[in-house]
Amino acid sequence: MNTNWIRMERLNAGERKHALREAGRIIREGGLVAFPTETVYGLGADALNAEAAAKIYKAKGRPSDNPLIIHISDVSQVYNIAKEVPETARILMKEFWPGPLTIILWKKAYVPDGTTGGLPTVAIRMPSHPVARAFIRESGRVIAAPSANTSGRPSPTMAEHVYEDMNGRIPMILDGGPVDIGIESTIIDLTGEKPIILRPGFISRAMLSQAIGPVGIDPAIVSREPEKEDIIAKAPGMKYRHYAPKGELTLIEGSREAVRDKINSLVKEKIQMGYKVGVIATDETIGSYHGNNPREGKTFAMSDPDQTGTILVEGPLCRSIGSRDHPETVAASLYRILREFDSMECDYIYSESFFEEGLGNAIMNRMLKAAGYHLISLQED
Ligand code: TXA
Ligand code: MG
Repeated sequence: MNTNWIRMERLNAGERKHALREAGRIIREGGLVAFPTETVYGLGADALNAEAAAKIYKAKGRPSDNPLIIHISDVSQVYNIAKEVPETARILMKEFWPGPLTIILWKKAYVPDGTTGGLPTVAIRMPSHPVARAFIRESGRVIAAPSANTSGRPSPTMAEHVYEDMNGRIPMILDGGPVDIGIESTIIDLTGEKPIILRPGFISRAMLSQAIGPVGIDPAIVSREPEKEDIIAKAPGMKYRHYAPKGELTLIEGSREAVRDKINSLVKEKIQMGYKVGVIATDETIGSYHGNNPREGKTFAMSDPDQTGTILVEGPLCRSIGSRDHPETVAASLYRILREFDSMECDYIYSESFFEEGLGNAIMNRMLKAAGYHLISLQED
C-alpha cells in the first residue's frame, strides 16, 4: 500500500480542502488515516464500523482487548455514543473540551465491541487541533483512534514518526507539524461512584478537582512497582509495556549532584565495557555530563582500569529533554528523544527524573513505563 504523506502547511486553502475530503472518503470507506492532535498523532478509523476498527489493531500490532478512544468534533456527538451523560461529565466537557481530556462513560449498545475491546464503557474525547477537528467533521463520522505508533513504541509526536511506523500500512498521513503537548490525554473514568484518573496527562488532578470536586487516581499510576504489588491498571492499555526504547533505560532520582555523579559513573562503567550509552539531561544540567556533545558522542580521555595511563573512549550521547522550569518542554520532547536514542542504537540510556506534581506526574508515569520501572533512588531519608 502506498502511504500518501500530506504536509498540510504547504498547501493552499483549496488543496487542504481537497486533502481533507480525500481523508473523509477513506474513513467512510472503512480505511485508516493518521492525523495530528494536540497530544500525539492518532490513527483513525470509523468508530462505529467494527471492520474498520479491526484494521487499526492490525496496523499497530496491538492486542485487541485494548479499547480505543472515540474522537468527536462536536459535543452533541457524545449523546449518540454514551448511554448517559452525568452532570460531572457536562462540567468537564464545558471546561476542558476541546482539549486533552478523555472521559469514560457507559456506552450505547451499537458502539461495537471491536472499538471498546468488549467493555460496556466507552472513552470519548474532543481534540482541539484544527486539523483533527476539520478531519473528523469532514468524515461525517466519529473516529476511533489510538496513538499512531506500532504497539510498544513511543507515541508519535511528528508525522515523521508516524511514517517510520506506518509507511506501507495505511493510505494517508495528515501532517500538521510537531504536536503541541507531546503526551497522551488525561483519562478520567466517570462510571464509578467517584471520578478516577486512569491515565495522567496535561489536565492535572488539581485542575479536575477544581472543576468537579474530589478526584481519585488509579493506584497503578502512582505505584513504582506495579508488578510486585500486583496492581492491574484499570485502563487496559496502561498495563502493557510501553514507549520502550530498544536500549535499557534507567531513571535516577535524588539531588542534582548525586544524580550527576551516579550517571557519570554508570556511563563510565558501561563505556569501558564497550557499550554505546545515552544520557537524558535537561537544559540546566546538560553541561555536567562527561564528554557531552549535543550532536554526537565525543572522544574523551579517561584513566584506564589497569592504571597504566589514559585511554581514549567514545563519550555518551547526551540530549537535553527540555527545561526543569518548564515541564511542558519536557513533555513535548520526551517521545522524540526516546526515538532518537533508538535510531542511535544505544545499549544503555540513563535519565534524570522529574518532580511528580502536575504535568511532572504524567511525565514520570510515561518515563517509568518506558524504563520498565528501572529506577535508582539516591534520596536521603
Ligand atoms: O491523547 C490521546 O488520548 C491519544 C490521541 C491520539 O487522541 N490517543 C491515545 O490512544 O493515547 P491510545 O489508544 O494509545 O490509548 C488509549 C487508552 C488505553 O490505555 C486504553 O486502554 C484506554 O485508553 N481506554 C480506552 N477505552 C477505555 C475504557 N472504556 N475504559 C478504560 N480505559 C479505556
Ligand atoms: Mg498509545
